Amino acid sequence: MNQVYEKLLKCYESVKEKVDFKPEVALILGSGLGDYADTIQVEATLGYHEIEGFPVSTVVGHKGQFIFGYVGKVPVVIMQGRVHYYEGYSMQDVVLPARLMKLMGAKTLFLTNASGGINREFSAGDFMMITDQIASFVPSPLIGENIEELGTRFPDMSHIYDKDLQDMIRGAAKDLSIPLKEGVYLQLTGPAFESPAEVRMCGILGADAVGMSTACEAVAANHMGMKICGISCISNLACGLTDNPLSHEEVFEAATKVAPLFKKLITESIIRIGDR
Ligand code: HPA
Repeated sequence: MNQVYEKLLKCYESVKEKVDFKPEVALILGSGLGDYADTIQVEATLGYHEIEGFPVSTVVGHKGQFIFGYVGKVPVVIMQGRVHYYEGYSMQDVVLPARLMKLMGAKTLFLTNASGGINREFSAGDFMMITDQIASFVPSPLIGENIEELGTRFPDMSHIYDKDLQDMIRGAAKDLSIPLKEGVYLQLTGPAFESPAEVRMCGILGADAVGMSTACEAVAANHMGMKICGISCISNLACGLTDNPLSHEEVFEAATKVAPLFKKLITESIIRIGDR
């Protein structure tokens, strides 16, 4: 059997042995949102280290566990701490958790992250609903023998971010009076922040925000037929747009500052997704 698939199934068996819960929505938490789970009704938690073969994250500010519970009445699985390509994992390992959450039963993937704003109309602290993405600068997680059990060899990517989910998020933001920007997210490998010239390049290519995650997970989830939505917290203006040097601490702090609003938006959006 395909080794990537074998590893995924092993993780799935390991999860099934320990937790009996069928989520509808899978949520991946970005920087600053680590404590979102404190706001939900938790039914079970499962540390990544308890799952056989699971890639374990090393980034400061990322706890490593799945949380199972309810947002309103919606059964969710939350990934508290994601795995990044720059940590040295293969792209197949980076997307393993997203695939695993689909096997657990989640039909919808809700992606969140912190990113650098490129669009001149954006300010630090804004939220950007992701309407499309550029993943061309990172290896595709689908490279290698296709896992037919998950999806087709050449998946269509016309609508990675589901239109109906976008409408629900727009509606949630409007009703909560939370201003919501929209745009294209571009993933680079990191871990270095971009140079000003790279940021200019990203802008010319059509990106509104740049970060080091998310797009690869969306590719893998789309391959599996999940419905996907995403919101990015513009934690800073990308390099060259201000005179401030960037640091992880600053990004983390900025994301943490607007996290309460971000959490409200996520909760209201998930409730609407569940009511669909
Ligand atoms: N660049 C890349 N990733 C990021 C940034 C940035 O400016 N801010 C938060 N994540």
